[in-house]
Amino acid sequence: MAKLIVSDLDVKDKKVLVRVDFNVPIKNGVIGDDNRIVAALPTIQYIIDNNGKAILFSHLGRIKTEEDKKELSLRPVAERLSELLKKPVTFVPATRGKELEDAINNMKDGDVLVVENTRFEDLDGKKESKNDPELGKYWASLGDLYVNDAFGTAHRSHASNVGISSNMPQAAAGFLMEKEIKFLGDAVENPKHPFVAILGGAKVSDKIGVISNLIEKADKILVGGGMTYTFYAAKGLSIGKSLVETDKIDLAKQIIAEAGDKLVLPVDNVVATEFSNDAPHKVVEGDIPDGYMALDIGPKSVAEFKDVLKTAKTVVWNGPMGVFEMSNYAKGTLEVGEALGDLTDATTIIGGGDSTAAAKQLGIAPKITHISTGGGASLEYLEGKELPGIAAITNK
Ligand code: 3PG
Repeated sequence: MAKLIVSDLDVKDKKVLVRVDFNVPIKNGVIGDDNRIVAALPTIQYIIDNNGKAILFSHLGRIKTEEDKKELSLRPVAERLSELLKKPVTFVPATRGKELEDAINNMKDGDVLVVENTRFEDLDGKKESKNDPELGKYWASLGDLYVNDAFGTAHRSHASNVGISSNMPQAAAGFLMEKEIKFLGDAVENPKHPFVAILGGAKVSDKIGVISNLIEKADKILVGGGMTYTFYAAKGLSIGKSLVETDKIDLAKQIIAEAGDKLVLPVDNVVATEFSNDAPHKVVEGDIPDGYMALDIGPKSVAEFKDVLKTAKTVVWNGPMGVFEMSNYAKGTLEVGEALGDLTDATTIIGGGDSTAAAKQLGIAPKITHISTGGGASLEYLEGKELPGIAAITNK
């Protein structure tokens, strides 16, 4: 269903409350990756270019103790935002009260203000994370309009997304939210065929929902990474010391039966004696020998996966094919990523932190149609779940 978009609103002279996802990696005040801040710029820029006042809300990390507040203030994020926008950004070190209200009331058209980490409210009865009704109402009272651009947080039902929305006459999606819904939504609901999903990562349990939802929609599901060996065990293959979720073997059997030849498992693997880049390693086909663990998919599997990808028109990739952080087990992930980057006539979508990191490591990120800013949110979307943050945005 089409959603109301920020560009449908008349933002001139208005106090526009914007939920962004500025949950970026940060250590000692230094931002590790500003991708999420960059991704929110079009919405912020639109509001200020149209003479609105942009009041930004975001969480950062998880706040459990007073101590956490020192490391998880949004101040460095506001500073980075100011650099990116090339204009001053007011930071208010409070989530409520006179200082915040005065700062908002003093804003001029085109100004930008960042409110302190919304999860500071969690120290007092988890008010943000439990969507305290008073808090959502209070934040809503600070502005005239509400825009939700925080796709990364859309799987949460918190005061700063669902709470504010339910206290406003309408809630609009920002441009990033619009883009995420378009690409992930089209892939899941209306993909161009052949539609290929590449799923990796350590655990079957993390990807069950996605596999179940995509079995009917995808033409092929290519499986790699640690979760492969639970499927191997389900097929009665030896797995040596490889990762396995024994309580998921029956489920893996069920998926194999349901998916038939849609599910493509690696035919060979790079196996090592230890979980170490320096451990003796080799390529084996089929059964994993005793004393070895599989840490990457092998060259024949890579060739087979590439062959399937060649004709794909839609590809969704979530999760690495092996332990790509270690150079000896990175080839599967890197070659699959490269094959994805080489597709010129397909919509290619990457979700999840590890595959995104691999795409960046490879330098293929610019060749990918859409790299989602959502981790948990993109997974839940691919599972076909309704995300509360999106559901709370007004339908057109
Ligand atoms: C994320 O990084 O996936 C989102 O910002 C949500 O963060 P959370 O898992 O702490 O709710």
